[in-house]
Order: sequence, then structure tokens, then C-alpha cells
Amino acid sequence: MAGAKKLYIKTYGCQMNVYDSERMAEAMGGAGYVETDSPDDADMILLNTCHIREKAAEKVYSELGRFRTLKDDKPDLKIGVAGCVAQAEGEEIMRRQPLVDLVVGPQSYHRLPQMEAQTRRGAKALDTDFPLDDKFEALKSRGPKARRGPTAFLTVQEGCDKFCAFCVVPYTRGAEVSRPAARILDEARDLVDRGVREITLLGQNVNAYHGPGPDGTDWSLARLIWALDGIDGLERIRFTTSHPNDMTDDLIEAHGTCSKLMPYLHLPVQSGSDRILKRMNRKHTAEEYLRLIERIRAARPDILMSGDFIVGFPEETEQDFQDTMDLIEEVKYGYAFSFKYSTRPGTPAAERDQLDEDVKSDRLQRLQARITHHQRAVQDAMVGRTVGVLFEKPGRLPGQMVGKSEYLHAVHVADAGLAPGDLAQVTITESGSNSLGGRLATEDGATAAE
Ligand code: SAH
Ligand code: SF4
Ligand code: F3S
Repeated sequence: MAGAKKLYIKTYGCQMNVYDSERMAEAMGGAGYVETDSPDDADMILLNTCHIREKAAEKVYSELGRFRTLKDDKPDLKIGVAGCVAQAEGEEIMRRQPLVDLVVGPQSYHRLPQMEAQTRRGAKALDTDFPLDDKFEALKSRGPKARRGPTAFLTVQEGCDKFCAFCVVPYTRGAEVSRPAARILDEARDLVDRGVREITLLGQNVNAYHGPGPDGTDWSLARLIWALDGIDGLERIRFTTSHPNDMTDDLIEAHGTCSKLMPYLHLPVQSGSDRILKRMNRKHTAEEYLRLIERIRAARPDILMSGDFIVGFPEETEQDFQDTMDLIEEVKYGYAFSFKYSTRPGTPAAERDQLDEDVKSDRLQRLQARITHHQRAVQDAMVGRTVGVLFEKPGRLPGQMVGKSEYLHAVHVADAGLAPGDLAQVTITESGSNSLGGRLATEDGATAAE
């Protein structure tokens, strides 16, 4: 596009930010921008930020500092900060880093084109409101529909009312809001028309989804999943992130009966100690979480569980930590993400007595070693099994294609004439450090001859 301005977006944090960045790029497309993958030739740089841990927030300022020379060379360059740091720090960002022209919170992205115009008139632009209008509806692309890859995210719910004592999300994303089911279904059909075969439904508390349905009743996430199941051409459905207390019976049942719903569930628990869970305000015990997983596994025995853990939460004792290790031992996660507790200003836990950094580091190391052990075992146990794989892109070797199994393991297959978007049954033959290797299976489930 001749004369188009260039937009460089860098995305930090969770998948919801990835989705938001795509929507912002589309909205800015309407304002004459095309995306570029380098900040050097950009007319506008946008950092879509994360505030979840201290390091994530600090990265933003060091990244911004690096744009100084770019702006010296090109005074017209506009620099914007979006996302959760923008929401949490607002105007403070411009005070701390005067290079910044624009600060926009996650609920105000639909105002981005007007805000950009304001910066072109030489003014600074700031918007961290929580307006009532549906930002996604306003962000909808009105331009030509670009072809998409085989997988896509689709945000169905935003915000959080849970207020875990360590977490900034209720403050940066606001209260829980669910999008109307009809809009989600329209968006899903549109994605499928553009080549998407797998959709991951997103929400900070996705299983708390309760959006208005086309029939006037409130739909649960399970109800929405069943409606998506009816879309021809959509082959796979996933959702993340869930809270244990919102794992309703209909959703558990769907894992057993909806064939498009993939056998993978990310269900963070944070700690295995009831004392710490209580102090974290998680509102469930370790035992309740374990019984819940039993019920999920009864519905879908092969489901792969994934989780999140925080070590070194204020007042966590060695015994509390051992309780977490015991829980890990019992669940045997296929994946897990673990973090040292990070003090977040404005959250209740920030006011409490903090643990020493070396205690946190030591616990994190031990916990990660255990998780890696299980992760390996779960991955290695795939060898010999035949699993569905959705191919996404060429691998490193000529003719090789890489995709994801139903269980979200990366799988590569050599020279089988596959294309992105192909879905095939693959017999797993090897388990490498970060991925599986396999061969196409024949109709009767036997491995094809090479
Ligand atoms: N809504 C999701 C996850 C939100 S944040 C949920 O309820 O599980 C993703 C993960 O970051 C959390 O699960 C938690 O493990 C981690 N996290 C959140 N706040 C943190 C903090 N202050 N310090 C360290 N890790 C944190
Ligand atoms: Fe944060 Fe807890 Fe809400 Fe998850 S449920 S986003 S951890 S407050
Ligand atoms: Fe980070 Fe905000 Fe997501 S704090 S994890 S980008 S909701």
C-alpha cells in the first residue's frame, strides 16, 4: 500500500494481549496503518504491556528507553503504551518516560484511532476509562478480510471479580464481562471462513462466561462450546484460563462428550497448602481441587492437565511448600507454569511480611525440577500412540511440517506432503526435548510405510 503509515506492535503478557494486539492492528488499518515487524521503519510504536509481575512491568521502561534514538531521528514517530501497565500506571508513564505520546488502557482500544489523530496534532493522549460500550464490536475490522493461519484466539470474557490476594488483574482489566454469544459465533464463523480450524476461547476467567444467548437466556461456557461445535469447518475448540470454582458440571460433561473440545485443561491452583490458599483468597482447598480433577478425569480419562504455581507467597513455610509438591505429585501435570511470588503494589498480599529472595529461588528450582520430571513422563508416554495433529507451519528440515497434537504437544512429521491447516492422524515415534516426532497413520490406524 503506497503511502501507508507503519505500525509496530510488541506484545507482552497473556494470550488476551495477543488477541487485543491483533484487534488494535486491524483498527489502525482503518486509520491508514499497515503492520511492520521492525520498530526501525515504524511511524507508530505500540507496546502492549503486562503488569502481572514486577519484571514484566519493568521491561516496558527499559524497552521504551531504547526508542530514544529512533525518535531523535524521526520526530514524527509516535510511541504508545497499551495494556495492563497502561491501566495500572496511567499518566505516570508519561511522567517517567516523556517519549511516550499515548497511553491507552485495555478497555479503551476502540478509541485508539482518535487518540492517534490527537497525537498527530501534537497533543498527548491518555485513556484508561472502563467505558460501557463493547470495545470488540467497535474494533471489528471493516476492511478486506485477510486469510488467517489454522489457529486463532477469540476473547469471550474479560476481567475478574475473584481478587486473589497477589493479583493485579481485577484492577487492570476490571470487573467480569461476557460478550454476547451471537457476536462470538459470528466472529468464529468469520475466522473459519478465513482458514481457521482451531479456536481457543479466551478469558481471564473464561469458565465464568455467562453471556446473553440469542434465545434471551444466559449461556454458560459449555453452552457456547456446543454452539461452536455446530460450525462446519471448525475442527477444534480450546479455552483458557479457568478457575477451579467455575468448573461447572455441564463444562466437565462437555469434556467427555464434545469431540471438538480438546483433551487439555489449564486449571491453575497456585498452591497445595490450605493455609496459603486461604491467605491467597482462592476460596477452595487443595482437596476440593484434587476431587475436581478426579471428576474431570472420570469424564475424559486422557485429559492433559496444566497448572500455574506461585512459590514464596508471604508466610509460606517449608511445610506449605511440601504440600504443593505433594499436590503436584498427585496430579502429574503435563505442563505447568511456576513463578516466584512478586509483590504488586495495591494488592493485599503486598502489605504482608515477605520471604527472602533466596528461599523463593530455592523453592522454585525444586518445584520446577518436579514439574519437568512429570512433563517429560507425560510427553514420553505419547510414543506409540496415534493422535490427531493440526499442522501449522513448516519445520526446520526441508519437507518437514510442525503442528500441535490434541494434547498441545508440538509434533513434527517429515516429508509427507502436508500443508498448514491439514489435520491428520499421526503415530508418535519419538519424544525429543521440546517436541514429538511421528509418521502419518493409515486409515486402519497402522503406521504408513515410509
Ligand atoms: N486468571 C488466571 C491467571 C491470571 S495470571 C487464574 O486465575 O489462574 C497468570 C498467572 O500468573 C497466575 O495463575 C499466577 O500463577 C501468576 N501470578 C499472578 N500474580 C502473580 C504475582 N503477584 N506473583 C507471581 N505470580 C503471579
Ligand atoms: Fe488473578 Fe485470581 Fe482473577 Fe486469576 S482469578 S485473574 S489469579 S485475581
Ligand atoms: Fe499480564 Fe494483563 Fe494478561 S497483567 S497476564 S497482560 S491480563
